Amino acid sequence: MPGTGETIVIYPQAIRILHSLLALSMLAQLAVGELMDVPGAAGEPEEARLGIVPAAYAHAGHADVIVPVTAGFEAHECLGLVIAGLLLARLLLAFSSLPETGWRNLFPWLSASGRAALLAEAGAQAGGWMRGRLAPPEEGETVARSVHGLMLLTALGIAAAGVVLFFGWNEHGHQTALIEAVGEVHETLVGLFEALLAAHILAVILHQMQGHNILTRIRPGKA
Ligand code: HEM
Repeated sequence: MPGTGETIVIYPQAIRILHSLLALSMLAQLAVGELMDVPGAAGEPEEARLGIVPAAYAHAGHADVIVPVTAGFEAHECLGLVIAGLLLARLLLAFSSLPETGWRNLFPWLSASGRAALLAEAGAQAGGWMRGRLAPPEEGETVARSVHGLMLLTALGIAAAGVVLFFGWNEHGHQTALIEAVGEVHETLVGLFEALLAAHILAVILHQMQGHNILTRIRPGKA
């Protein structure tokens, strides 16, 4: 468990830089994904609103109108490839000897001792969570680390589905059943990721309000 006594454990510089790049590019990607029109999307306007990129049909008002490639969609593809690269770099670091970065940190539930620590921490801290109070990192951060790991896993799933869509999506309309299904997975994982990100950001705000100063741990630059 990092952070003993008053010591604030700082993430290695590589992680701090990677986190800033990931946070910026993923927030931008979520915004672009909401706003863009998707060329070749199919369905009724109402259905499309829930699908991969609804706006195309909402704007067109016809299920059979094929939207041409848009700048938003191209930006989504480029950003997606950048994010896939950043996630791959983070994944590689999870197998390096850098402190605080390893896969055991991100996925404590993979080992019996990690699961025990997770349960003990949740049991000891759940009462505080209900009152909007978070324990400082030095009192245990297995839960926080599990959320970080889940965020990375979900983001990797989104990116993997995105890469399949990049090669398989027909921008002139009519998708195969497989590509439609991959699109659904992509969308569903985005929803899950947004929920985890909301929890992550809420936790950061609460920690900061309670004076735990965790932003210092992840901010790039001199510690
Ligand atoms: C406004 C956006 C964000 C803010 C303010 C923020 C803030 C933070 C902070 C303060 C920490 C350190 C937590 C600790 O004390 O251990 C952290 C860690 C982390 N954050 Fe974020 N974050 C943001 C967006 C994201 C996004 C989009 C991801 C996407 C994957 C992400 C993934 C992680 C991960 C994985 C860690 C642990 C460091 C690592 O192992 O790489 N964060 N974040």
